[in-house]
Amino acid sequence: MKDPYLFQHRNILSIEQLSKSDIFHILDTALSFKEISNRPVKKVPTLKGKTIINFFFEPSTRTRLSFEIAAKRMSADTFNIAASTSSAQKGETLIDTARNLEAMNPDIIIIRHGSSGAPGLLSRHIKAGIINAGDGTHEHPSQALLDMMTVRDHKKEIKGLTVAIIGDIAHSRVAHSNILGFTKMGADVRVAGPATFIPPHVDALGATVCASVKEAVTGADVVMALRIQKERQDDPLIPSLREYAQFYGINKSLLQHAKPDVLIMHPGPINRGVEMNPDVADGERSVILEQVTNGVAVRMALLYLVMGTQGVSS
Ligand code: CP
Repeated sequence: MKDPYLFQHRNILSIEQLSKSDIFHILDTALSFKEISNRPVKKVPTLKGKTIINFFFEPSTRTRLSFEIAAKRMSADTFNIAASTSSAQKGETLIDTARNLEAMNPDIIIIRHGSSGAPGLLSRHIKAGIINAGDGTHEHPSQALLDMMTVRDHKKEIKGLTVAIIGDIAHSRVAHSNILGFTKMGADVRVAGPATFIPPHVDALGATVCASVKEAVTGADVVMALRIQKERQDDPLIPSLREYAQFYGINKSLLQHAKPDVLIMHPGPINRGVEMNPDVADGERSVILEQVTNGVAVRMALLYLVMGTQGVSS
């Protein structure tokens, strides 16, 4: 007889580490938690007595707040620490800071860091569960999971869909996680953008590189635009934002080539009029705010599932 499925990840560092069964399980768990946020009293006792630390070295609105809301809706005690107000400013190393946090016995540490691999490094040095809230250009696994949840809400199945990801693929951890996630779930992923924004070997991740945005969006079920990650570029990689908007911005006339029921997505924050026109971002096919809503449910699921593996080594 086949062994029953067991979620075994004490740390969530990447989409790469997750199997298709893990992703289905996270998305199903998130769906079951989603209605809690619509109750008059938005709180369940599931994580009562647990301690969760949000440790953010880079700015964040959606991810930091939705992890905090998720934890509070499950009755965990949450604490926020920003690099700008921590002793990292006085030269303390990441591992020393994390060991000091661990001395206070948290159950989970959620970390966003500008260096790819920082959450993985912590996971090898401390016992608390680590959740990656975005590391450098590496991965942003909870973002890809909420994106997949949003697509599944509308399209029922991810398998067989065509997903076009447009823009700064090279510097985007969101793109990396989404390419891995959507291809794992059986979607056909296309990418397009200026040549300086297309990383070498992106096809090895399973994405098809298109010569133009029009080619990428033609027949697409999902069009996802990305923010230009200026903070990860030493020199400007595009001549001007005006030209970027003209050739790579998502507008209504471009979307005539996509499927009529195309979903428009963006991880946020949006540069309106650059990677996407306001009438598209706010239009009837946009699910951008649904992505944010689903972020709370996905993060509740991750906290719940990771907490359930305490004591498992992975
Ligand atoms: N999508 C995302 O990571 O947004 P924040 O930077 O606001 O967390």
